[in-house]
Amino acid sequence: MKVTVVGAGNVGATCAQVVAEKNIVQEVVLVDIKEGISEGKALDLWQTAPINYYDSRLIGSTNDYAKTADSEVVVITSGVPRKPGMSRDDLISINAGIVKSVTENVVKYSPNAKIIIVANPLDVMTYASYVTAKLPKNQVMGMAGILDTARYRAFLAEALDVSPRDISALLMGGHGDTMVPLPRYTTVAGIPVTEMIDEEKLNAIVERTKKGGGELVNLMGTSAWYAPGAAAAQMVEAIVMDQKRVFPCCVKLEGEYGLNNMFVGTPVVLGKNGIERILEVDLNESEKELLHNSANAVKGIMDVLDGMNIL
Ligand code: NAI
Ligand code: 2OP
Repeated sequence: MKVTVVGAGNVGATCAQVVAEKNIVQEVVLVDIKEGISEGKALDLWQTAPINYYDSRLIGSTNDYAKTADSEVVVITSGVPRKPGMSRDDLISINAGIVKSVTENVVKYSPNAKIIIVANPLDVMTYASYVTAKLPKNQVMGMAGILDTARYRAFLAEALDVSPRDISALLMGGHGDTMVPLPRYTTVAGIPVTEMIDEEKLNAIVERTKKGGGELVNLMGTSAWYAPGAAAAQMVEAIVMDQKRVFPCCVKLEGEYGLNNMFVGTPVVLGKNGIERILEVDLNESEKELLHNSANAVKGIMDVLDGMNIL
């Protein structure tokens, strides 16, 4: 079985490394447009196999998609981060152009692939890939919810002095400051989190989670990659191992949660067919309002992209 990661930058290389170390596929192909970078990183990673004991072969490719043929899963991380002087619209048009051309190449060689988008703005790039790919909606999805939930769980684990493994949480909505962590669906080994932490501290953690990506950009001058790469690899694993894991992923909604033709994060079952099911949990009025606000924010960016006539 083969998995391809497009974009051999920070997130892509980390994702390829984590997938390889899981030892769940025969081949991990790393593709980049920059001459030599994917070949170099694949070779470097392959040389960790004797140390870290895995067998997955790592192959690098400078834009040669023939090497990606018949991939089971393709992770698309190729995109540029926002730079000084660049407007949000500039970022949307540049990354949509990249996601479009990469998706066309991916589908040409791997029509059955499950495509996981990582490039930002996440929800809208998932939409761009879906429109380009013309594949069933279960095959195209975005990674953000696992990362955002991981941040939320990590902050809670620290505040409660418990293992992050025991924190189970749900977070919905778009990948931005309007995302919706859901304390009502957050437990510590089954105990409602609201019984273990006071409201003020919990609210502060919810707010920190929403700005979790920005906190790291401020610290490092670029966006995060360890947790994003690991989160994308967890989605790959759920699909190739047909685990039926329940994760928040960005998917196309067709009426669920009262949202139509929208791409936002909701809980789904992930297995060999990609999105096997979208789970509709009960939301109270204020949670519904937060989710709809978040969806509206995503819709605003989708409209900007539609107006550019790129797709
Ligand atoms: P990076 O700049 O380190 O890597 C991007 C790579 O994509 C570069 O190596 C570049 O050469 C390559 N690339 C550009 N155009 C390409 C094309 N047409 N075909 C193939 N490769 C191409 O960036 P990084 O840190 O890896 O981030 C990648 C993307 O992921 C960004 O858009 C970032 O905002 C996003 N991101 C999303 C997260 C999420 O939760 N969804 C979390 C972290 C990052
Ligand atoms: C993150 O959340 C910026 O999307 C990126 O780290």
